[in-house]
Amino acid sequence: MTSYKIAVLAGDGIGPEVVGMAVRVLKTISKKTGVGFEMEEAPVGGCACDATGNPLPEATLKLAKKSDAVLLGAVGGPKWEGLDYSVRPERALLGLRAELGLFANLRPAVVFSPLVEASTLKREVIEGIDLMVVRELTGDVYFGKPRGVEILPNGEKRGTNTMVYTTKEIERIAKVAFELARKRKKKLCSVDKANVLECTELWRFVVSQVHKNYADVLLSHMYVDNCAMQLIRNPKQFDVVVTTNLFGDILSDEAAMLTGSIGMLPSASLNEKSLGLYEPIHGSAPDIAGKNLANPIATILSVGMMLDYSFGLKNEAGLIKKAVENVLNKGLRTADIYTQGFQKVGTKEMGEAICKEL
Ligand code: IPM
Ligand code: MG
Repeated sequence: MTSYKIAVLAGDGIGPEVVGMAVRVLKTISKKTGVGFEMEEAPVGGCACDATGNPLPEATLKLAKKSDAVLLGAVGGPKWEGLDYSVRPERALLGLRAELGLFANLRPAVVFSPLVEASTLKREVIEGIDLMVVRELTGDVYFGKPRGVEILPNGEKRGTNTMVYTTKEIERIAKVAFELARKRKKKLCSVDKANVLECTELWRFVVSQVHKNYADVLLSHMYVDNCAMQLIRNPKQFDVVVTTNLFGDILSDEAAMLTGSIGMLPSASLNEKSLGLYEPIHGSAPDIAGKNLANPIATILSVGMMLDYSFGLKNEAGLIKKAVENVLNKGLRTADIYTQGFQKVGTKEMGEAICKEL
């Protein structure tokens, strides 16, 4: 029997609740198909910092490195906001990305038709949205040097971050994006700020070079400010969007919100092998933590992406998606996607209903 090793890093806030439901979905899939999932838990983020002084303890990193995939909930919360940068919960995410070489971040934005009313945008603008943001995840201002805040001779302070990309870094993310586009509607939009930033002038040049091997994919280029506007104006013009780390951070939140709820969207972060980290796009939502209010669907769909991208279990991934759709069609809604006339349920009820559907 095939068995996969999964590191389960629930993290802070609503992390443990939503990950708990995703773990149940994995167990259900296992019972149904006979595929084994060996799951081991480890602390990450603020709770890890409280326990060990380090948001990404050595043992957690080691576990992640020897696993076939990592399932992550969320990290952070007001409790840790005043801490030094080096021990903030967010450092754990950045550490995992860097240490595992997770350079390709896939963030799909799909509108589930039963939820069209949950979006703040008009039905005709968003109905049928199915786009994928491919965000570069280990370069750019997030990791570029020099960085930091220094004190100038006159006593004034100066903060610095550096946008950096090498040809190789751009090439490998472009390849991931072209490959994905090839399996979808064969349209790729590369987003940059080449009119101002030399670094992204290089980005545009390299993406165009890589395009020569993907002539079947239609490539366009767009400035990031225009893209932010186009996403609201006419999001259905996009299929795959590839962009830098910082632009991708911002645009993927915007794309997520088009769909009505950030509580619905999964993500995958992949390295050059098939090791991946899978997490919901949303954060730790400390205001609703422990209240059985969080929507577990983003995390459950992240497990779906794990089955698909890391384990090649396309069929089983499809089952998860279908189960989520069915439960929505039956009218179950967590608070974040609730509109009048539907059945309001909690985290547990939603998770259990999806398992039952499976
Ligand atoms: C994300 C988050 C992270 C990022 C933070 C929490 C470090 O916003 O995954 O989009 O900026 O990458
Ligand atoms: Mg973000």
